Amino acid sequence: MADNRPIGVFDSGIGGLTVLREIWDTCPNESTVYFGDNSRAPYGTKSRSTVIKYSLQNMKFLESKDVKMIVIACNTASAYAFEELKKRSKVPVIEVVTPGADAACRATRSGRIGIIATGATISTGVYSEAILRRAKELGMDGLSITSKACPLFVSLAEEGWWDTEVTRLTAEQYLAPLKEAGVDTLVMACTHYPLLSKVISEVMGDDVTLVNTGKATAAVVKEAIKGIEAAGSDVTKEFYTSDEPKMFEDVASPFLGRGLPSGTKHYSTDIYEA
Ligand code: DGL
Repeated sequence: MADNRPIGVFDSGIGGLTVLREIWDTCPNESTVYFGDNSRAPYGTKSRSTVIKYSLQNMKFLESKDVKMIVIACNTASAYAFEELKKRSKVPVIEVVTPGADAACRATRSGRIGIIATGATISTGVYSEAILRRAKELGMDGLSITSKACPLFVSLAEEGWWDTEVTRLTAEQYLAPLKEAGVDTLVMACTHYPLLSKVISEVMGDDVTLVNTGKATAAVVKEAIKGIEAAGSDVTKEFYTSDEPKMFEDVASPFLGRGLPSGTKHYSTDIYEA
């Protein structure tokens, strides 16, 4: 049966827009409500308990918008909080780790896979576990996984330094162990990294496949809404931020890959601190 309720998407801030744009492209008839928790970003440097607490609050907010599904469009929140959200959510929850792991297993030829992400995501080991689990399901063995936290990539992407000398030097330093390990597939396990994919690809070399977890996640969303797709032409795209809407909109566009279609509204998370 058709379900015209929107899909709820949240991230620590603007990074999740790289996932949202893929959902828009893959599921063009679906309405969406996006929440960026900008006032409490970044999540990638925070503890597990803090990220779980924030993620549960974000889930509650999206539930109050009567969404039919929640997408955790943040790798750090997916790594830390998915299990908790899955237990407590009233609607299905999709995260970004499993789709990224599946795409990596399908892309690799040599079985040598690299993962780059925030310090928090890497420290959980969740991506490596998901890749090993998926590889087992696909009957692959002999996998070798190399992980590297690349925290400065987040700031470089937000600064708009997608293709500068500083970014290239930073990438050369961060990616050296992955090149040394001879990975043929590299999972960009952070929402911001697709913006740096030109430099990352040039440093890694042409024969290394970059996995965009947002793209892989959008395909999973399309699959998950089968039977509850929206019908009709009234597609709405709402945006909320816990910080200043203007600040959100000023930096959002490159992440979204297009202009913002409607005014962003403010939603204060202060109520949770009261
Ligand atoms: N959205 C985060 C992620 O994908 C990156 C930004 C942050 O640290 O909050 O891990």
